[in-house]
Amino acid sequence: LTYTKTHYLRSAATLSQCPGEITREVAFAGRSNAGKSSALNRLTGQKKLARTSKTPGRTQLINYFQLGELPLALVDLPGYGYAKVPIGVKNAWQKELGNYLQKRDALAGLVLLMDIRHPLTDYDKRMLEWANDNGMPLHLVLTKSDKLKRGAAKSALLQVSQAIRNSSTAVSVQMFSSLNGDGLDELKQRLNSWFLP
Ligand code: GTP
Ligand code: MG
Repeated sequence: LTYTKTHYLRSAATLSQCPGEITREVAFAGRSNAGKSSALNRLTGQKKLARTSKTPGRTQLINYFQLGELPLALVDLPGYGYAKVPIGVKNAWQKELGNYLQKRDALAGLVLLMDIRHPLTDYDKRMLEWANDNGMPLHLVLTKSDKLKRGAAKSALLQVSQAIRNSSTAVSVQMFSSLNGDGLDELKQRLNSWFLP
């Protein structure tokens, strides 16, 4: 598949606003600041496709990016775990996010991005548990691999691999850097396998 022809389609605030013309999609989830938007930009070779920010909590809608004219899409989800939004807003978003994950039929797989320097936070573990309980295929991406030396990055990868070995759903893990493109081909292959089953 070609990811360079990806373009912004629509933002949805609720499940009912998600586009009906998309029949298969892969969602990028993870804590605020994990690097979801940056990974989407790297993947599509478009620096400004998804908005990135040094301020966590920037992405606050379910953002749809369509692959050319295909009925396929990449979805940039709001980062969870961001404390600096009013509590009511946070809860409303978590409810919407839960609703989306639970009920969106087009959702073929979940990419969970985690900063390689602090993977498997409580939030990540909850997502892993949810994927297991719901039989949702999951791909863990350890972002910002450029921030660690090779040895440290590899041991982080090994640690996460060990933590997921008893999963009942299909789970895979890789490292990735939006900065230097480390792991880009591996990510594309995983997405291809979900988009073209
Ligand atoms: P929210 O939208 O708030 O949920 O955040 P996000 O997960 O979309 O994170 P975003 O892509 O906006 O990146 C957060 C910060 O991390 C930005 O300052 C990015 O430049 C930086 N960043 C993202 N990926 C990488 C990477 O691979 N390497 C390095 N060094 N920095 C990165
Ligand atoms: Mg973002």
